[in-house]
Amino acid sequence: MPRIVRFTHTASIKIDPNAPPGAPNAWPRDENGNLKVISICACGISAKFPFCDGAHKLCKEEEPGHVYEYDIQARAVVSKTPLPPEPPHEMPAESVQPDDQPGNPVKE
Ligand code: FES
Repeated sequence: MPRIVRFTHTASIKIDPNAPPGAPNAWPRDENGNLKVISICACGISAKFPFCDGAHKLCKEEEPGHVYEYDIQARAVVSKTPLPPEPPHEMPAESVQPDDQPGNPVKE
């Protein structure tokens, strides 16, 4: 589902596997000092972006046909707006090639 996400970063976020443990940009390590597998947030509502913090579970409640806005710190939906109906999509006649006609076998 679509959602509105407000980002305030104005630069990239660098995670450095060579940074000393504990440095702000250090890659997370396990108790043996090995680099840990990390999950990158793809939903956009993690409070620890760019890392996943599990907040994506909220997105599972999203209903089709709406745009959601979240309060990331409160882990709550603050607005749910119905999407306007999409206008019918028609291809311009000149872009339809004879092979595109329904029933024609697909060429490889
Ligand atoms: S993918 Fe965004 S919080 Fe997990």
